[in-house]
Amino acid sequence: MNAKIAGIGFYVPERVVTNEELTKLMDTTNEWIIERTGIEERRYAKKHKETTSTMGAEAAKIAIERAGITAKDIDFIVFATLSPDYYFPGSGVLLQRHLGIKDIGCLDIRTQCTGFIYGLSIADQYVKSGMYKNVLVVGSEFHSAGLDFTTRGRNVTVIFGDGAGAAVVQATEEEGKGILTTNLHADGEYAEQLMYANPGCHGGVFLGDKSELDYKDEADYGDMFLTQELIDKEAIYPHMNGRYVFKFAVQKFPEAIMEACEATGYTPADIDMLVPHQANLRIAQMIQLGLKIPNERVYNNIQKYGNTTAASIPIALCEAWEKGLIKDGDLVCLAAFGSGFTWGAAMIRW
Ligand code: UT7
Repeated sequence: MNAKIAGIGFYVPERVVTNEELTKLMDTTNEWIIERTGIEERRYAKKHKETTSTMGAEAAKIAIERAGITAKDIDFIVFATLSPDYYFPGSGVLLQRHLGIKDIGCLDIRTQCTGFIYGLSIADQYVKSGMYKNVLVVGSEFHSAGLDFTTRGRNVTVIFGDGAGAAVVQATEEEGKGILTTNLHADGEYAEQLMYANPGCHGGVFLGDKSELDYKDEADYGDMFLTQELIDKEAIYPHMNGRYVFKFAVQKFPEAIMEACEATGYTPADIDMLVPHQANLRIAQMIQLGLKIPNERVYNNIQKYGNTTAASIPIALCEAWEKGLIKDGDLVCLAAFGSGFTWGAAMIRW
């Protein structure tokens, strides 16, 4: 038994936010953003109307319909996000509720930009083992809810956008079709290079590269997770050591792609469509150059949506498929790198 992607869908909020709009909030320019990242605009979800799980549900409904099944046929949900509706419970159970299904298991995973690849790999194993027939994998992010819209946060804020993508991973008996291999990696040594530290039980105050671990006179329990001090010091935004992340990304992306090639007996020249996580257009171009993959075999849409973390691969994959750029029988490679650090790849015979 193999596992294939039987249906795929994506949802991006209506509101388009241009680089020009961000220049009114912080010291940045359209030229800087385009030159360093390739991003021209991104989408922001509607505050108080949309959430990570509602966007995930919109994408999921499309994927389910395209798979030719109904929500009741879904056996299990894997939900990848770093920007959940609630700290707990996870967004998977909320998505289940939006879809009007009950009782099936819902698993939230926290592997950031590599979330969709991890989710796909989990779904693949469950389907191949015969445990489930239809697993719904969703990646969704509401980044704009928690970004720093001042100049201090510009290196992170200009990059990220909101949106969701979903796939139904389904059992198939078609030989040689579907998910051929996945590889998953992580190195926690670099956890603090790209992080959203607070709220958390580490008890410190992370402010960019500098972390303060000043415990002062305090009770030996409580008052640690989300403190007034964190709010007063505005230690409530994501932190990224951009250059450091960039360097690792351009090394680890190709390693994961090559591992997927070696596991399946293909070479980068055999890949019909590479869909890299949309971290930065420059990263994608460097990977492409290194592996000698021509432009028409790499799909990028970061220009329109920014970096949507766990949603970026399913959004790009779905858009490429909708444009007819991915056809039956094509060899499709997905690859990602991000916070953790985590990285990985998947090779799919479509
Ligand atoms: O998806 C998960 C993984 N994330 C990534 O893969 C992101 C990887 N990193 C990157 O994409 C890039 O490092 C960035 C796009 C984040 C930054 O580009 P960079 O070319 O590495 O710039 P930098 O951080 O080295 O900053 C260069 C300069 C700095 O000014 P000084 O110190 O040279 O005066 C920054 O303060 O650019 C400044 N800068 C900005 N200027 C205008 C940083 N952000 C901005 C901005 N607008 N938005």
